[in-house]
Amino acid sequence: TLLLLLMTLLSPPTSLSLSMPSTSRYSRPTTAYQDQRPGTSGLRKKTKIWTEDSMYLNNLIQSYLNVLSTNSSPSSKPLSILLASDGRYHSVPSIAQISKICGANSDIVSTLHVPQNGVQSTPSCSSYIRSPKNDCSAAIILTASHNPGGPDADFGVKFNGARGEPVDEGFTEEVWEESKRLTTLNIVDDDDDDVTIDLNAEVGTTYKVGGCKVVIVDPYEAYVSTLEKFFDFELLKDYASKGNRILFDGMHGAGGPFGRRVLGDILGFKDDCFMRCDTREDFGGCHPDPNLTYGKELVERMGLDGKGRKTGKGEDFKLGAANDGDGDRNLICGKGVFVTPSDSLAVIADRWEDISSNGPLKGVARSMPSSAAVDVVAEKKGVRNFVTPTGWKFFGNLMDSEVLGGENFNPFLCGEESFGTGSSHIREKDGLWAVLAWLSILARSPSLTVEDVVNQHWEKYGRHYYARYDYEECGSDGANKMMENLRGMIGKALPKDGGDYELNKIESFSYTDPVTKEVTANQGMILSFLVKDSPARAVFRLSGTGSAGATVRMYLEKYDGENFGGNSQEELKGLGEKAAEIADLERFTGRKEPTVIT
Ligand code: G6P
Ligand code: ZN
Repeated sequence: TLLLLLMTLLSPPTSLSLSMPSTSRYSRPTTAYQDQRPGTSGLRKKTKIWTEDSMYLNNLIQSYLNVLSTNSSPSSKPLSILLASDGRYHSVPSIAQISKICGANSDIVSTLHVPQNGVQSTPSCSSYIRSPKNDCSAAIILTASHNPGGPDADFGVKFNGARGEPVDEGFTEEVWEESKRLTTLNIVDDDDDDVTIDLNAEVGTTYKVGGCKVVIVDPYEAYVSTLEKFFDFELLKDYASKGNRILFDGMHGAGGPFGRRVLGDILGFKDDCFMRCDTREDFGGCHPDPNLTYGKELVERMGLDGKGRKTGKGEDFKLGAANDGDGDRNLICGKGVFVTPSDSLAVIADRWEDISSNGPLKGVARSMPSSAAVDVVAEKKGVRNFVTPTGWKFFGNLMDSEVLGGENFNPFLCGEESFGTGSSHIREKDGLWAVLAWLSILARSPSLTVEDVVNQHWEKYGRHYYARYDYEECGSDGANKMMENLRGMIGKALPKDGGDYELNKIESFSYTDPVTKEVTANQGMILSFLVKDSPARAVFRLSGTGSAGATVRMYLEKYDGENFGGNSQEELKGLGEKAAEIADLERFTGRKEPTVIT
């Protein structure tokens, strides 16, 4: 009793136990899990964890609903929630299961909107919630984004809020706290009610599950109209009709059908402009992460090798692009040229007037590990520029900030080195948006190739050579120790060897949100160098999106104001070796080589 009393006294009011034993006829006891803490972008775990124990998903959803019910204002209850998936293995049974949980919690959720076929890309989900017409104030998205799918791969659940944004950390922490103490949940019994939902039913079909209405909705409408408002579709149609071809790779994820709908059905690009656009449960066995390694076939067809070097081969496409499993990431390339995400962001910022009919750019933001290419453009254009920690949610705060001007601080452009680009049209990154932005650039100046655009950009601003090394599935212990060791070097004498790489400074990135003033510390270690008098840096960070072990990321960047023709991976090899040596990476992780270089 004393312990209980103490806990009650010490806990802030928000963490008072939410899980009251329910009196609902659907109520049943459950055992709490201690490991449902979401990462950067939802809770991702090996698929088996979800398939072997259905209570794992049930508990998570009940915890989410409990927190949602205490967080939303009384007038807005019960809520309408979008329930969508990226189509990966285990999505269909999960949709059924979640419907049963919601059906038994109808005091919290009255309506579930389920996209026809169950599949909807993350950007489309964001746009769906934002559309007033849909009267929907949250989303549950079944996705593990760019992680592979299938019985032996990954599955995940992610929550979005009323502005279409991934819910903030405060909210996810509350869900985690709730999941750790959950003792009962409500679920509609299979024999109790008719709970069969046909995902292929016509749009508008409704079902009753417990006390909840489930309605099959059109996943395209709101999203297409958002994109139509942003881009000049007539210009793009004209470009397509003149025989210009592009190659769009859907990686068998949720982005495929959306790419087909917009680029094919609406803009008129022909069938031979699409590959892997049918959604598959296992993404056709591919790792649906659009980069030089996993986008191999696209990259080859665009005349590039795995290091982004020109092969002299390839087909005749003006633009090559891929989206990831849930359609929010993008890869952009041209014939014989790979555009790094950081350069892509900078080019889009520079050529904003070619792209958007929504007025001049008000601000830009990039994540800290992304290159400084966009900073230079922002400075030249005189627009505000923010450097945030990794994670799209930090951009959302800026876009919605009344302090920065709210609706007037729009349009706002943001991007990350992790192949994410987007703007204030929604509150997620948007793979298809990035493709349309590049298409607009090309359509505005049809005589230019992607290579011309990129070269012109470097001529104007200089080039930020960039590469990222990933060391996947390392031991967590070693990886944490390596980071700690780097932190320990702050303020100490720096290792100097008189070689080509002169280490100037080691710091830990900490961010103070300009709006909320909230501090997010320990967001990566920055090692600043001078390489033959040019500024360069290496950043070390642990990934927040893995599903097993720890992934160490090493981000390398070097500015060159004169020589633009080199290959990033080759230009940065020496810097990578030096940084790995300083971090003692091999000793801590046992890894000599990265698993992936992007
Ligand atoms: C997701 C988030 C991005 C973030 C990325 C980082 O894709 O939506 O905003 O940049 O994860 O992943 P990492 O594995 O580096 O933590
Ligand atoms: Zn994704």
